[in-house]
Amino acid sequence: MTPARTFNDEQRARWNGIDGEYWTRQNERLDRTLAPITGPLLAFAAARVGSTIIDVGCGCGATTVELARMVGPSGRVTGIDISEAMLGLAKQRLREYPNTACLLGDAAELGLRDLRAELMVSRFGVMFFGDPVAAFSNLRSGLVPGGRLRFACWRSIHENPWLQIPLEAVYKHAPRLPKPQPEEPGPFAFADPARVTRTLTLAGFTTPSFTPLDVRLDLAAGGGFEEAVFHASQVGPAKRALTGQPDEVRAAAIESIRCSLTPYASTTGVELAAAVWLVAAERTD
Ligand SMILES: C[S@@+](CC[C@H](N)C(=O)[O-])C[C@H]1O[C@@H](n2cnc3c(N)ncnc32)[C@H](O)[C@@H]1O
Repeated sequence: MTPARTFNDEQRARWNGIDGEYWTRQNERLDRTLAPITGPLLAFAAARVGSTIIDVGCGCGATTVELARMVGPSGRVTGIDISEAMLGLAKQRLREYPNTACLLGDAAELGLRDLRAELMVSRFGVMFFGDPVAAFSNLRSGLVPGGRLRFACWRSIHENPWLQIPLEAVYKHAPRLPKPQPEEPGPFAFADPARVTRTLTLAGFTTPSFTPLDVRLDLAAGGGFEEAVFHASQVGPAKRALTGQPDEVRAAAIESIRCSLTPYASTTGVELAAAVWLVAAERTD
């Protein structure tokens, strides 16, 4: 089996298993946490009334709903996702928008030619492909010539304390995760602009631009400090490092997360810095 195929199978399993279940169950609080990114991404994407849009890795449909509102009844938005549970929730949320559709499957392989989209958007849904050049070549086929690609991806973990601080707390008790392989998919796979540029240009897009977006994310998302502690152990690399660990390791790690987040607790929540790239490119022809 090629590494790309293995990576793809792992991602399909994660998003139809442990990660998909969490995102589906917690989608409202995740949307509240990610709200400081959603608005700027949608403004950056600048969807026009009447346009045709694809939302890649749309998950539970938060951005798909917003895009459907932005294009209005004369436009059309198609959400694509590999996670049956997450897309199931997206379908429910999109019921009142007849100008939307949901496609279940691997965005790297689905036939997209008939969609003829003017804009392709993604909030953190494009970093999980086993073979990103092949995946973006396929995504390109869903765009009209000159069609616009606009997505958000994380910068490096060192610039994202909201994920790094809980991870370092977990590492006091659980083994360190293996260093990701250079082409391995994951939340930080698109942190390096050189890699993204190489991927997109090889796949038939223009040289992308990278706009940094620096925000603070509230891990409590309207709940209390203990919620922030629990959820910090349930997302990103901290969750991966805790997967399969015995109860006593988990308990000790959660206590360490509690200590590490204490300095960030305030009356407004538990806010930590996050760093994102807003990436823009166009389909070349
Ligand atoms: C971090 S979540 C983001 C979900 C959503 N865009 C949001 O912001 O709430 C990543 C999403 O990408 C989807 N995904 C991962 N690999 C995919 C693939 N090959 N094809 C389609 N969707 C994929 C996952 O199922 C998941 O919904």
